[in-house]
Amino acid sequence: MAFRLALIGFGGVNQGLVELLKAKQDMLQKAGLPVSITAVADLRLGLISNPQGIGLDALLDCAANGFSTDALQHEPGTTVQHEIDLQHTLALISADYVDVVVEATFTDPNSGEPALSHCRAALTHGKHVITTNKGPIALAQRSLAQLATEHGVQLKYEGAVMSGTPVLRQISTTLRGCDITGFAGILNGTSNYVLERLAQGHEFDAAVKEAQALGYAEANPAADLEGADVQLKVVILANTLWDAGLTRADVPCRGISGLTGSDIRAARTAGDNWKLVGSASRHADGTVSASVEPRQLPAGHSLHSVAGVSNAISFETDVLGNITISGPGAGRVETAFAILSDLIELAEQAQQQEACA
Ligand code: HSE
Repeated sequence: MAFRLALIGFGGVNQGLVELLKAKQDMLQKAGLPVSITAVADLRLGLISNPQGIGLDALLDCAANGFSTDALQHEPGTTVQHEIDLQHTLALISADYVDVVVEATFTDPNSGEPALSHCRAALTHGKHVITTNKGPIALAQRSLAQLATEHGVQLKYEGAVMSGTPVLRQISTTLRGCDITGFAGILNGTSNYVLERLAQGHEFDAAVKEAQALGYAEANPAADLEGADVQLKVVILANTLWDAGLTRADVPCRGISGLTGSDIRAARTAGDNWKLVGSASRHADGTVSASVEPRQLPAGHSLHSVAGVSNAISFETDVLGNITISGPGAGRVETAFAILSDLIELAEQAQQQEACA
């Protein structure tokens, strides 16, 4: 099973994926999963395609040299088109030399666009979709999943929640058999990083700039600080867990900008920590309630000591009680790892289907 990938968006996450594919070539070969990148579309870069595969080194050179396509243009079979619009990208997505569309453009929490159009076009043309983009999944998870089923392909989005730290796949694999009745999590790396820096005595604006420089923040960091990013993740988790049909409007949301450094330091002196918590519960009558809000957590709480860019989620389960998963919540390569893990699962599923055919 070989996969030919189209990378839609060539920012930090998809660049991180190219680095990982290069570093993990041997492992991928051994796993029977040769992967090539046959197309890349990005507003800064244009549209690059080569049905035989674009060189990973040339792509990394391009990213390192301010999106200069010189190295790519010298590769036999590679074509470069600089000026592109949505229609060009949609045409590329439908090309017959693309099997999997990896959507990692910026998240628009309101419309989900243009990522939503990219995902719809891919699924409609029978391409598997792997995305780390929260917008399309939070806004249209049910209709996208239906489109995938109709066209016999897979929709995967492990990286939309807690970047490469496995959460969604735990729900669909190792936690099967448990009834999960609720969760509470620290689901945004940027705001958790900023809270930690404030506790250490740094200024709010400087801490946000650091998080941006480290590649954690959204294109508009207000989404991290005012809670919209966590709101999207709560929607995705609740809908994945319970097919709850939740929308952003169902999740009251308050971010961290109302907290002051002195509030945070006073809490820490008393042994507590302020955290931005996204949570949801399914009630006995089947209804789901959810919220995003800062909470002052006492020592001993499962989320109290989750520091910096780390994220964590605690699931309430019937059999096991509280299960907490913790790990990186943001970062280029960390998020790219989620794409790699989705690719490996996709390959295993395809191998199983072939074996049954
Ligand atoms: N801006 C997000 C965060 C990226 O800081 O958590 C991962 O979704």
